[in-house]
Amino acid sequence: MKDTKTVRVVVAGGGSIAQQRHLPEYAANPHAEIAGVFDFNRARAQELCERFGGIPYTSLEAVLADSGVDAVSICTPNFTHADYAIQVLRSGKHVLVEKPMAQDLTETRAMMQAQKESGKIMMLGHNQRLVKAHMKAKELLDAGAIGNLLFYQLNFKHAGPETWTADPGKNTWFFQKAKAKFGVMGDLGAHKIDLIRYLTGSEVKNVFANMMTLNKKYEDGTPIDLEDNAVCMFNLQNGLPGIMHFSWTNYGGEDNGSVIYGTKGVMKIFGDYNDDIVLEMRDGVQVKYSVGGIQTNQNQTKSGVIDEFISAIVEGREPIVTGLDGHNTLAVIETAVRSAEEGRWLDIEY
Ligand SMILES: NC(=O)c1ccc[n+]([C@@H]2O[C@H](COP(=O)([O-])OP(=O)(O)OC[C@H]3O[C@@H](n4cnc5c(N)ncnc54)[C@H](O)[C@@H]3O)[C@@H](O)[C@H]2O)c1
Repeated sequence: MKDTKTVRVVVAGGGSIAQQRHLPEYAANPHAEIAGVFDFNRARAQELCERFGGIPYTSLEAVLADSGVDAVSICTPNFTHADYAIQVLRSGKHVLVEKPMAQDLTETRAMMQAQKESGKIMMLGHNQRLVKAHMKAKELLDAGAIGNLLFYQLNFKHAGPETWTADPGKNTWFFQKAKAKFGVMGDLGAHKIDLIRYLTGSEVKNVFANMMTLNKKYEDGTPIDLEDNAVCMFNLQNGLPGIMHFSWTNYGGEDNGSVIYGTKGVMKIFGDYNDDIVLEMRDGVQVKYSVGGIQTNQNQTKSGVIDEFISAIVEGREPIVTGLDGHNTLAVIETAVRSAEEGRWLDIEY
């Protein structure tokens, strides 16, 4: 039974993330109704509407012209995000944009400006800060559970997007610079950069990165023109140093783990234990927390992104993940890529 305060949403791009999270989570939200799906692949849009409701749209213009649509979820390849989001906002609708926010900071700034002028809500799909274990970790860190922070090591590694995408294959858009702009740094790095900003409340100050194409190849056997591995050293503005490894060549499963080192002990999130968070204290005591697991490509649990987007619209408030979060995260991604090209530390210019 849908509520009277119903937000009517169109999902633009009916691929994997739309099918795994956006569409099922809108369908389950009592304040949301799926008005339709817009996808260049008309058969896919049609099939998804039969499953989730609404009507298939054949162009973004048709979505924008429909006064019965309140909001749009952008789940299309990265190069479309800025253009689509700005058009949606200018048409007077709310927008949820998948990560990475855009291709560069000129685009992110234009998106934030369009949001401001429209007075509508723009939320970013950085879902890691909505994972229960990460919310619990922040609560523990803020309470000083492992003392003063000394260092962090964050990983996000899986076997690559060429089997995840709705159009699988070695020539996937994820491997094409013109459509993805970034390789693993934009795909998986975006998640952990937003996460460290959330966990510490600090922006990133500078970065030294190394990016490699170790194993991914196009159909014709040539290496892809984007990085499939990225290793970054960061210093946060609050002085905290750390390292992150993002990989599309983790052929042994998925690693979404974080280790945070403090003066009183070590926090392991999604590490080698069955528990979501384990605190290994300096005196040998172990404290364990089980708070709901993590989504993996194989195990999709509710992301919380859709519920937060709809709540922000219904309550008329800023969402937990804003355009500025997307912009600041993209600034780090862009600078890391440049650092790898130039082989030196670079300050992030926001
Ligand atoms: N938050 C997360 O954890 C997460 C996970 C995966 C993907 N993503 C992001 O979501 C976006 C989509 O990724 P995906 O894995 O679903 O990709 P996908 O390849 O599975 O799906 C993309 C869909 O968009 C359609 N499409 C392509 N170009 C279009 C256009 N110009 N207009 C309309 N439709 C178009 C395709 O036909 C396809 O159905 C990407 O930006 C990706 O980075 C986020």
